[in-house]
Amino acid sequence: MKIALSFALLQPLLIAISSASAESLADEFLFPGGNTIYVGVDYYPEHWPEERWETDLRMMRKAGFNIVRVAEFSWVLFEPSEGTFDFDWLDRWMELAKKHEMKVILGTPTAIMPAWLAKKYPEALSQKADGTRTVWGGRRHNCFADQDYRRLALRVVEKMAEHYANHPCVVGWQIDNELGGNDCRCVKCQEAFRLVVKDRYSSLDEINRAWGTHFWGQRLHDWKEIPIPADRVGDWAISNPSASLDWQRFTSQQSIDFLTAQADIIRGKCPPSHFVTHNFMGLHASIDYYALARPLDFVSWDNYPPLGPAIPYDSSLAADVMRGVKKQNFLIMEQTAGPLGWSVFSLNPKPGELRKICYQQLAHGADGQIWFRWRTCTVGREQYWHGLLGHDGKASRRYREAAQVATEYQELAPKLAGTTLHPQVAIIYDYNSLWALQIQNGYPGASHAEAIKRYYNALLRAGANADIVRPSDDLSKYKLVFAPHLHVLADPDAQNLSKFVERGGVLLTDCRTAVKDETNLAYARTLPGLLSPALGIEISEYESLRQGIDGTTETTYPLLATGLGDVRYNAVRYADWISPTSADVIARYDAPHLKDFAALTRNKYGDGIGWYVGTIIDDPRFYDAVVARLLADANITPIVKPPAGVEVTVRSNEVTALLFAINHTNQPATLNVPSHRPNLLSGERTEDSITLAPFGVAIIELEAAAKASGPLSVP
Ligand code: GLA
Ligand code: ZN
Repeated sequence: MKIALSFALLQPLLIAISSASAESLADEFLFPGGNTIYVGVDYYPEHWPEERWETDLRMMRKAGFNIVRVAEFSWVLFEPSEGTFDFDWLDRWMELAKKHEMKVILGTPTAIMPAWLAKKYPEALSQKADGTRTVWGGRRHNCFADQDYRRLALRVVEKMAEHYANHPCVVGWQIDNELGGNDCRCVKCQEAFRLVVKDRYSSLDEINRAWGTHFWGQRLHDWKEIPIPADRVGDWAISNPSASLDWQRFTSQQSIDFLTAQADIIRGKCPPSHFVTHNFMGLHASIDYYALARPLDFVSWDNYPPLGPAIPYDSSLAADVMRGVKKQNFLIMEQTAGPLGWSVFSLNPKPGELRKICYQQLAHGADGQIWFRWRTCTVGREQYWHGLLGHDGKASRRYREAAQVATEYQELAPKLAGTTLHPQVAIIYDYNSLWALQIQNGYPGASHAEAIKRYYNALLRAGANADIVRPSDDLSKYKLVFAPHLHVLADPDAQNLSKFVERGGVLLTDCRTAVKDETNLAYARTLPGLLSPALGIEISEYESLRQGIDGTTETTYPLLATGLGDVRYNAVRYADWISPTSADVIARYDAPHLKDFAALTRNKYGDGIGWYVGTIIDDPRFYDAVVARLLADANITPIVKPPAGVEVTVRSNEVTALLFAINHTNQPATLNVPSHRPNLLSGERTEDSITLAPFGVAIIELEAAAKASGPLSVP
C-alpha cells in the first residue's frame, strides 16, 4: 500500500537532521542560513530598458529565484573612459534587487576589455602565432603579460569591490568568465615564459636535460634562446614535447595568476562573508583546475549538455571532476535554459528535460544553480543562445519548468544540506597526462579524458558512483581505483598506486600508462614501469593499429576473452603485446603472431588485485563486462542496478542518504528500489519498484526514513 506523505509532514524531522551536519563548507557557502538553496539566473540589466528591470525581478521572485549574477562583461559601462568610473546604472538596478530581496553575485568584467583600452594600448590584445593581433570585439582576447591590461583590469576590479563591498544584496563574486584557452605569443609572454622556465630548471644544463635538447640540435646556451614552442593550434607536431608541456603549464598559470590577483583584491576590500568563485568549464583542459581553484572558496561551473533522450555522460563526469577539484560540492553558475548556439541553434529542451538536467547536477553534488540566461537577447552574437524567456520576454513553458525546479529545490534544501557523494570508487584525472597526450598522441586520437569516459560511462550504467582524484591523492578510502591512460606518471605516484593494490585495493590501468616522466620525456624502462609488479606484466612490444605512419586503414584483432561473456569483441586502434609475469590472462588477441601475448590481465598482488587493459574495444559492452568483474573483485554492490538510460547516485551525510534516480530517456523507466522509503519529490512511499516518467526524477530517502519509522508511518 502506498502511504501518501506530504513534504510538510517531513519538515520538522528534516530540519533536525540537517542541523546535525552544519559544519561543511557547503553549508557555509552554498546554503545561506543552512536551509535555503541558491536558485536564480544570469542577468544583464544593460541588455534591457530600465523600465523592464522591475518586471523581470518580479517575475524572478515569482518563480522562486533568490539569486542573480550580474555585471560580467560590463567593464566599459563601469569605466566609459580611462579612469572615469560610473556605477550609477548598476546601483539603480541593485536598489531594485534590494527591494525585491534578491541576492547578487557580481561578475568581475575583465573578460572583455573596453574599445578605448584596445585602441590606446594595442599590445593588450593577444598576439597570434603569425604575429598578427587578435581583433577586438570578441571575448578573452587579452595578453596576460601586458602590464597596461593587467593594471587597468585590476583597477576596475578594485573600484568595483570598493563600491559594492557593503551592499546588502551582494553575497559573492565570480572572477572573470570561463578562463582558459589563452595562448598569446607576443614577446612579453615569451619573456615571461623564459623567466618561469629559468625558475623551474635553475641551470641551462638542467633545462637541456629536461627538454632533451640533444635531439635535433636544440641545445640552449642562453635563456634568451628559448622560443615559444610551435603553435598548438597550428603545428604543435613539430615542437619539442617537453617545451610544449612547459608552455601549456605556463599559459595555464597565467590565468591562475590573474584570477589570484583579483581574488586578493576582493578579499582585501570586501567582508569575509563574500564568497569568491569562478565559472569553470567542466572537462575543459587548458588550465590546471586544481591550481585554479586554490584561491577560491568553491568551484562553480557552466553546464550545457547535449539535448535529447540519452544519458549526457559528460555532464555527470564533468560534475564529478568539479566536485573533485576542491573535494567539495559546487554551484552551477550557468545552466542551459533553452536552444543554444551562436550561429545555428540546437534542439529545444522537451518538457521535463531542463528539470532532469538540473537534477543530474544536484545528484552529483551541485548545491545550487543559476540559469543561463534569464531572457534571450535581441542583440549581439548570442541572439540564439536562448534563455528561460524568449525574445518576447513572456513567462512561458521553460520559465514555468524553472519555477517548479526552484520550488522543489527549496523544499529539498534542508535535506540536502551537508550531503555529498561518498563513492567507493575513484578515477584518476591528471592534467599532465591530458596535456602530454595532446602534444603527442601516440596512437591517433589517444586521450586521457576519452579513456576515462570508457570506464566512467560503464560505472554509471552499473549504478556505481565515482570520485575524481589526483594521482598523488590518498587512495586508502577507496576499494576500486581506475587510472586509464595515466600517461605521465611520476615515481611517487606509481608507488602510491602500487601501495593501494598491495594493501587490498583493486586497480585498473590501461594502455599508454606510465610512459612519460613529468618533463614529458619517455622513461628508459620496460612498460608499465614501476607498476609492473602490481600488475604482474611486462609490455614486450606495442603498436598503433593503422597501416603506415599516415595511414587511415586500421587493423583490428578479434579478442579471445574468458570471463567476459559471449560477445565477440574486436581490439581496435592500439594493442599492447603483454607478457604476463605473474598475471592471469583474461583476454588474448586472436592473431597467430600474437598468440603468446595477453590483451587483458588480472594479477593478485599483496592483498589486492591489479588489472591491465592493453587495447581499446569499440563496444561499450566490453567495458560493462570489465567493470562488473572489477566491482565483484572490490566487493562493491551498487544499491540499484539502473535500467538503460537511467542514472542513480547517492548523496549522504552521517544521518541521511538520498538516492537520486534520473530517467534520461523519453520513455517510462522502471527500476527496483528499496521499499517503504519516502520518495521526496512525489510525497509517496516506494514499493519494490518505481516507474519514472519520461525525463522523470525520484529522490528516495534511504536511511533517515528507517530511523524515523515511528512518526513517519502515521498516515
Ligand atoms: C558561456 C559564457 C556565457 C555565455 C554562454 C553562451 O558559458 O560563460 O557568458 O556566453 O557561454 O555562449
Ligand atoms: Zn602576450
